[in-house]
This record gives sequence, structure tokens and C-alpha cells, in this order.
Amino acid sequence: MFKKEFRTALTNKTVEIGPDAKEDNIIFALESSCDETAAAIVKNGREVISNVVATQIKTHREFGGVVPEVAAREHLESVNLVIAECFEQAKIAPSEVSAIAATIGPGLVGSLLVGMNAAKALAVTYDKPFIGVNHLNAHVCANYLNTDLEPPFVALLISGGHTQIIEVKSYLEQRIVGETIDDATGEAYDKVARLIGLPYPGGVNLDKLAQNGDKNAFKLPEAKLESEFNFSFSGLKTAVLQLIKKLEKEGNELPKEDIAASFQETITSTLFKKTLKAAERLNTKTLALAGGVAANSEIRRKFFELREKGYKIYAPEMKYCTDNASMIASSAYFLAETQNSLDVEVFSRM
Ligand code: KG4
Ligand code: ZN
Repeated sequence: MFKKEFRTALTNKTVEIGPDAKEDNIIFALESSCDETAAAIVKNGREVISNVVATQIKTHREFGGVVPEVAAREHLESVNLVIAECFEQAKIAPSEVSAIAATIGPGLVGSLLVGMNAAKALAVTYDKPFIGVNHLNAHVCANYLNTDLEPPFVALLISGGHTQIIEVKSYLEQRIVGETIDDATGEAYDKVARLIGLPYPGGVNLDKLAQNGDKNAFKLPEAKLESEFNFSFSGLKTAVLQLIKKLEKEGNELPKEDIAASFQETITSTLFKKTLKAAERLNTKTLALAGGVAANSEIRRKFFELREKGYKIYAPEMKYCTDNASMIASSAYFLAETQNSLDVEVFSRM
């Protein structure tokens, strides 16, 4: 195992963070990279003490997607309330935590700035270390929350902005095995949802609609790529668009449920085959799903079935799949890519 030494913001005192630290680590974290303002307090990277999320879904729905300027303003309005509620629920005072963490990227810069600066202000006020966290690593760490999962394992990260197969060799060492060359999984879900007229956020609504559809109704294409572990979903999205145009031209009422189910079947099948192949290649039977799309019912069902074949399949509880701050606290505890300085800045892309 391991520990890392962090310095408090004001007096430069040493605080040990990690599984080998002398004392229990109680980490307070903020997440504000997109459209959720979230705060959490997590003990030793796994035990969630409090988890508060204020979502902006209603605000962005009328625009059909996230408007960055509006998102930043809403974070600013909610962040103090969310922080107060989080400490209140945990019955812990800010002076009692070991460190203060926040997402520093990737994400919307204006939104990230709100959470990061609030966290830095708390770190200075209470003389705690500030830990800057990478949002993608944190999604993978959501699998450590309330579980006993330990590396090595293979993770499938499927979010609104990313799709990656990751070899998690140890807590500190990860390698990207494959990734999307165009649209991310969540992005494909959201775009197809919009094509069939579903409201924002598209992914979860498409998931619900698909449950009443026939997944074999339409045959949609799976991309053939040179690199066996990479993904491409833009062709699939175009195929759905062409299918819709054809059906409309024929004057039929759109079989939305069947289109949703067929799309979901195709994308699930691609994710499943490639991840399984990567696991076989890397000689592991432990798989973890991560990111907002890991909340998808069909993807979960398909991977969970592997348990009958002796695989260990992890997927975060639903509330820890989509953006939350518990995963940020867990990542601050476990990972080396964390930034330990008040000087760190936010970043929009990897
Ligand atoms: O991880 P996340 O909350 O934010 C990012 O870091 O991007 O992921 C959000 C994405 C969105 O594209 C959303 O539509 C999708 O996750 N999503 C789903 C489901 N729940 C959320 N996609 C398919 N099925 C779901 N049940
Ligand atoms: Zn996310």
C-alpha cells in the first residue's frame, strides 16, 4: 500500500493521505465540472459519510443541453448551500476533516472555477491541504465506494465526454487500452435521444424508452476499426438519423421504442465485446464500469451476466455513476495524479 504527504494551506504542516496514513482520512470534496454542484465527505476513500448533489437539469432542459455560462452562475448560487448541507448531514465540522479536495478538470472552465475556488477558500480558512482531482480518475474510483474492490482490474469508463478501456494496474498506475476516436458513449446517447425527440438529459430517457422496445427491430452498424480496443460511434448516430428519415418519408409513425432499443443493443454489444476482449488479453476476470452511462440498465444487465461465468463485475451504485463528489474524495485518497498545491489551475481537456 502507500501514503502521500500533503501540506496544509496556511502553516505548511504535513498531513498523510492514503491507506498507510497513521490516522483515518476524512476528506471533504467538491465537484462542479458540468451541471451538478456536489459535495461529499468520505472516510478512508471508501466509506461515504455524506453525499449531496444539486442538479441543474431543470434549468438546462429548456435549452436542450448544458449552457456553460448558465451552469457557472448556478454553481455559484448553489455551492455554499451544498457545502453547508454536506457538513450538516455528516455532523462533522470543517475543522475536523483531513483535507479538502475539488475537481480541477476536465470540464467546463467556468463551472470548475466555482468548485475549485470554494475548496481552496475552505482549505485556507481551516488550514487544510487542498487536493486537485482529475474527474476521469474519480469516475473509476467511484467503484471503491462502499466496496472491497482492489486493483488490478479493467475499467470501462463511459461518460458524457469520454469512452475508455483502462487497465488499472494498481491504485497509482493506470493505462488507457482503447478509447473513442469520435463521439463518447454518453454523447451518442444524448444525440440519438434528441433525434427521437426526447428531452435533456437524453441518456436516461432513452434507457427508459428502450425498455418497451424490440432490440432486434432494426439492424444498425457496428464500426470496424483498425485498433481492436478503440471505439467509434459517429457512424451509428448517422445510421439512426438515416433510419428516422427513411421511416418518416414512408409516412410511418416513428417506432421510437424500437429505435431506442435497437440503438442501445448495438452500442451495448460493442462496449461489451471490446471490454471483454481486453480483459481476456490482460488476463483478468475483474471488471468495473464507470461514468454516467454505467447507470444504463442494459449495459449493467449485460455485464452482470458475466458473474455466472466467474467474473467479478463492479459498477457504482446509480447515484455514484453520474457526477458526484464522493468519487472525488475517493480519488483524492487513492490516486497519485492528484495535485497538492493552492497554485493548481483548472483545465478543460485532457
Ligand atoms: O459521468 P457523467 O455524469 O458526466 C460526465 O462526466 O460526462 O455522464 C453523463 C452522461 C450523459 O451523456 C447522460 O446522458 C449519460 O451519462 N447517462 C446515461 C444514463 N444515465 C446517464 N446514458 C444512458 N443510460 C442511462 N441510464
Ligand atoms: Zn462525469
